[in-house]
Amino acid sequence: MNNIKNKKILLVICGGISAYKSLEIIRLLKKEGASIKTILTNSAKKFVTPLSVASLSQEKIYDDLFSHENESEMDHISLSRWSDLILVAPTTANTISKLSSGTSDDLASTVILASDKEIFLVPAMNVRMWEHPSTKENINKLINFGYHIIGPIVGDMACGEYGKGKMTEPSEIVDTLEQYFSKLKKNKRLKALVTAGPTHEYIDPVRYISNKSSGKQGYEIAKSLKKNGFDTTLITGPTNLEPITGIDLINVNTAEEMFNAVLECLPVDVAIFSAAVSDFKIKNKVKNKIKKKESINLNLEKNIDILSHISNHNSLRPKMVIGFAAETNNLNEHAKKKLHEKNCDWIIANDVSDPNIGFGSDYNEISIFYKNMKYEKLPRMKKSILADNIIKKVVSHLN
Ligand code: CTP
Repeated sequence: MNNIKNKKILLVICGGISAYKSLEIIRLLKKEGASIKTILTNSAKKFVTPLSVASLSQEKIYDDLFSHENESEMDHISLSRWSDLILVAPTTANTISKLSSGTSDDLASTVILASDKEIFLVPAMNVRMWEHPSTKENINKLINFGYHIIGPIVGDMACGEYGKGKMTEPSEIVDTLEQYFSKLKKNKRLKALVTAGPTHEYIDPVRYISNKSSGKQGYEIAKSLKKNGFDTTLITGPTNLEPITGIDLINVNTAEEMFNAVLECLPVDVAIFSAAVSDFKIKNKVKNKIKKKESINLNLEKNIDILSHISNHNSLRPKMVIGFAAETNNLNEHAKKKLHEKNCDWIIANDVSDPNIGFGSDYNEISIFYKNMKYEKLPRMKKSILADNIIKKVVSHLN
């Protein structure tokens, strides 16, 4: 099935000998029914002519960051917003370096930096350039930023040398895009729910008990679900994080509100409970602010365990339920117990006693415990990358 039909692709052509292959990419994408707009860097114009690109794409080309004409019609922000995906082919070592440092000194790099879309880079360069530690470091950075990298492949190069650095063939690039859109389409039919952040359990109208959760991991998971095409709802306790575009966001304060929001959101195909829900609420919550002269005796009662309730429920339980376990000691033992007692498909456990990971940090280090009692430990990584790794596993589990 053709999943590229009617897709809008912004093709950025950089200056390298393999730029001529971008013409074949345009031809193949057009044949599949895609609309294409192209940006040519100044050096790309030394390898392919704007006229040939415009003729094949049947669209004008964009090449100037400061063009009055383009700015009034389609500026650098609109160009990126217009597209469903950005493809940079070929991507030179210079462009890789610029993107990894956030340099935006021409139209191509500015559009990419301003983009909220998935970006596919197709590197092409001499083998020594590709293997240079600085290129490797830059590519790793870009992978961490969430860029997709297609190739390069091993082969004879235009410069006469042989090795890795050759641009992936246009048909394979188009296949990769086709697979990407097909995965999005498949996942689009799937509904996902994520809980995130802490809850606030009020003592009086101004005071509450809570915990150190920042909500970052849950937000990244929701972002990654959305990126993978899921119809995603994020139910979040109070955090300082920005709302994510394209995701249904439900703000709650207390565990009780979070529970009700979860019930309203069901049924879903996958539910990921990453919120650090307060285990207790105040039984003797008062209406007016308690004055400091008064003495306070907090009378606590247990909150409902949202995850356990949903996951052990005959009719409400989603196809796939993932819980988290924040532990400071005996991580494996506690995680396995939670996996069993809360009837989860997976428990994602992390050690919250290390201040460099977990609560508040941009980094996390987790172990995933599976129903068959097997588990795998993932290395320390950015929460955003970790989220992508988790969702990749979720997608293959659901399929
Ligand atoms: N959870 C929940 N509702 C609660 C408490 C926890 O949904 N009232 C979920 C969390 O979102 C998480 C999992 O249960 O996915 C485990 O939470 P955690 O705080 O690690 O464990 P608790 O069940 O609270 O147990 P303990 O505090 O004893 O470790």
